[in-house]
Amino acid sequence: MKDKNTFSRRNWLKTASLAVGATLPIATNKTSDAKPQAVRFEDDARYQPLQKPVTAIVLGAGNRGNVYGRYAVAFPADVKMVGVAEPVAFRNDRFAKTHQIEPKNCFKTWEDVFMVPKFADAVIISTPDFLHYGPAMRAIEMGYHILLEKPIAPSLQECLAILAAAKKSNSIIAVCHVLRYTNYFRKLKEICDGGTLGKMMSINHLEGIEHVHMAHSYVRGNWHVSGQTNPIILAKSCHDLDIIRWLSNQKCQTISAMGKLTWFKAENAPVGSTNRCTDGCKVERECAFSAIKIYAEQKKRIHVLDVPEDPTLQGPAIMEKLKTTNYGRCVYKMDNDQPDHYTTQMEMAGDVLVTFGLEAFTGWEARKTRIMFANGEIEGDNDLITVTNFSTKTQTRWKASEQADFNNSGHGGGDFGLVRNFAQAVAQNDRSLLTSTIDASIESHVMGFMAEQSRKTGKRMTVEV
Ligand SMILES: NC(=O)c1ccc[n+]([C@@H]2O[C@H](COP(=O)([O-])OP(=O)(O)OC[C@H]3O[C@@H](n4cnc5c(N)ncnc54)[C@H](O)[C@@H]3O)[C@@H](O)[C@H]2O)c1
Repeated sequence: MKDKNTFSRRNWLKTASLAVGATLPIATNKTSDAKPQAVRFEDDARYQPLQKPVTAIVLGAGNRGNVYGRYAVAFPADVKMVGVAEPVAFRNDRFAKTHQIEPKNCFKTWEDVFMVPKFADAVIISTPDFLHYGPAMRAIEMGYHILLEKPIAPSLQECLAILAAAKKSNSIIAVCHVLRYTNYFRKLKEICDGGTLGKMMSINHLEGIEHVHMAHSYVRGNWHVSGQTNPIILAKSCHDLDIIRWLSNQKCQTISAMGKLTWFKAENAPVGSTNRCTDGCKVERECAFSAIKIYAEQKKRIHVLDVPEDPTLQGPAIMEKLKTTNYGRCVYKMDNDQPDHYTTQMEMAGDVLVTFGLEAFTGWEARKTRIMFANGEIEGDNDLITVTNFSTKTQTRWKASEQADFNNSGHGGGDFGLVRNFAQAVAQNDRSLLTSTIDASIESHVMGFMAEQSRKTGKRMTVEV
């Protein structure tokens, strides 16, 4: 018969899905707090009030450019946008208006910005993936500091060339690995580094993309052809590879990967489906990927469609875009090539073994992580963290939320945390303040490129940085 204090996995799983505040049955003779403790982090003690805001030029005023723009609106003492380069007139005008940018500082394309003398502290490179290398190299040459969107560049050679140029320069370069700035991942890092759980043995990390997000970005959207952007392991998961490297404190030594495009293909198109959801598709009402449902009815992710903000004008404009852009096309009839399920195994230094899965077919969009140590275990679901300590037989739970003044910044507070960190590093001219330096980020990119080679060749790859 089982001791009543014995850990019952079945019970645990049953109870773990209950709402926050529930008491967990644990393998201990002490009781954990029923209510999870709040995760709180103050700003870095080295942060200072700025004498004047850091001035920045946004290259690419699309989705991410506007995320960083929103920080400048929320925290004008930290960052001021003084220039924009964006070929889509609607986006260029909107950005210029929001930030009151002088017409002489509004440019069509990133190249134009570097044709005039330097007029800001920093550039924010939020152009598409294949347009990072050019602006990064020119910005370094001209002495701009850089907030550089990930992935750094679509080839390892370009990533390494940017790194080499950065090392010879005085530019401060932050790579937008926003997860490092969330309270949730900061807490995981603090627990991993705390030492009470002993030696780290293994990490088991799962990124659920969520099926509609997958369809939006990697079947219909900007990243649906890997050769024109980046393989999905970099485009989506260089964040996760970076987090794995960061949490483990160990270099990746070998990586092997499998990944397949299995579902979003013509052979799975339902009978009665048409090329576009708007072409009278017979199964549109029951399809989970109906563009009419996602964009026109639920109004999800419509920022990509450049439609008016006025809701009375939005409906017809959305329908028109569904007839003319990839966002209205059937997910089974695209020219996409990104795998929709992908698994990797990594051997890190110090015998830390990692499995990582990237999964389109989830109903949730989050990262779930289990980290096993010689003396305990961490289990995190992107919100709630449960720590079991084997020797003290205690279990502690933490609930992470966004930093209060960030007000739904995106990525659980990571988006704004990153910009604040970058602004401080630039204003104090101190790159040691940065959390996601280009040196650190290169490792996750090498891991991603090697994973993709492994997926294509079937070989286990050595990772050398
Ligand atoms: N850090 C993150 O979590 C995160 C999340 C999503 C995307 N990204 C990355 O951010 C970058 C931008 O992604 P996005 O979702 O904002 O895409 P987006 O398409 O919304 O924005 C890119 C913008 O760049 C503009 N552009 C194209 N050519 C240009 C040129 N020559 N000069 C200036 N601008 C040009 C486009 O018109 C567009 O408005 C990508 O590299 C992407 O992978 C990062």
